[in-house]
Amino acid sequence: EAAEKGGYDTYMLKEIYEQPVALTNTLIGRLHDETGEVNLDIDLDPSSFKRISIIACGTAYYAGLVGEYLIEQLARIPVEVDVASEYRYRDPLVSKDTLAIVISQSGETIDTLEALREAKRGGARTLGIINAKGSSMTRELDDTLYIHAGPEIGVASTKAYTSMVGAMLMLALWLARARGTLTQEAGKELLHAARALPRLVEEALEPARVERIKAVAEKYAHSRDYLFLGRGVNAPTALEGALKLKEISYIHAEGYAAGEMKHGPIALIDAALPVVVVATESRLLEKTISNVQEVRARGGQVILLLSDGDTENAQHADEVLYVPRSHEMVSPVVNVVALQLLSYFTAAHLGRDVDKPRNLAKSVTVE
Ligand code: AGP
Repeated sequence: EAAEKGGYDTYMLKEIYEQPVALTNTLIGRLHDETGEVNLDIDLDPSSFKRISIIACGTAYYAGLVGEYLIEQLARIPVEVDVASEYRYRDPLVSKDTLAIVISQSGETIDTLEALREAKRGGARTLGIINAKGSSMTRELDDTLYIHAGPEIGVASTKAYTSMVGAMLMLALWLARARGTLTQEAGKELLHAARALPRLVEEALEPARVERIKAVAEKYAHSRDYLFLGRGVNAPTALEGALKLKEISYIHAEGYAAGEMKHGPIALIDAALPVVVVATESRLLEKTISNVQEVRARGGQVILLLSDGDTENAQHADEVLYVPRSHEMVSPVVNVVALQLLSYFTAAHLGRDVDKPRNLAKSVTVE
């Protein structure tokens, strides 16, 4: 088993470090710099549907939420995202001009599989963003876009998530190209940004950054609760950060869209509450920083994720975690790495079984 972990203490840590390679495998051969082409080998006609329904569970659902931002923003098609356990029972409105996209690492999650069947019954065309080759979902989907992240053993999903988001980005670009919603210039810029992801994630894993995250994780490891905030395309990053921490450290954590904080969770803030805020370069950065000031004014401990070089906003933080600068649209992939590591080192410090957290299964095949 030690050999299988490739020198790492746990599968989870190994898989965190495998992300640059996993992402390369997700993107390779599909994005072409010279021509700006996106070649996904999908048989569906991208101009034939009017709406998209994304369906998934857990971490895969959060990848779907990022996908919603990307597709609506870039391809201008209405998207709705559902957790599969709700979708399958809510008698969803589906028609022939719906594209249902299911996202799953295992391809076996029962709720997602049943939701896929529900979408098919309604006449939707179906596409899967899947990791496991030949899994149950792939046998029932019209088409599959494999993420090629390689086997994921740790119960807490890491490399599958970043590869899923990478796949959603390619899909959004493919749809945008086909529908003519992006200028040649903007398309190329995004394609370059996507191609840079493996390198940026590699940078996010540089030893000095990892050491810093470990120190912050250990400092706050005995907190009772944690709050994670983010906005826009990084609102789902906050949700995923909170889920990761809950799963492996058993610390209660909430993930929230930062602008929604004043509608409730702000009541939780006191000096004992670490608040992690994703505040990297974006159109909404100023608004995010004013959310941070609201937290500080109430005594909360602010852990800020800032883009490299942003020394100006460091004044608003108790702790700063610098992450590599990336194009806003691809930043969820880069930013989440710091949150995976924060959860990992918190759980490791508390002596948790990181690869097999209590009560959780890698793949939930019973309802
Ligand atoms: C992720 O860390 C979780 N263990 C869990 O939320 C998982 O993402 C979910 O069960 C969906 O699994 P799938 O991708 O295999 O369908």
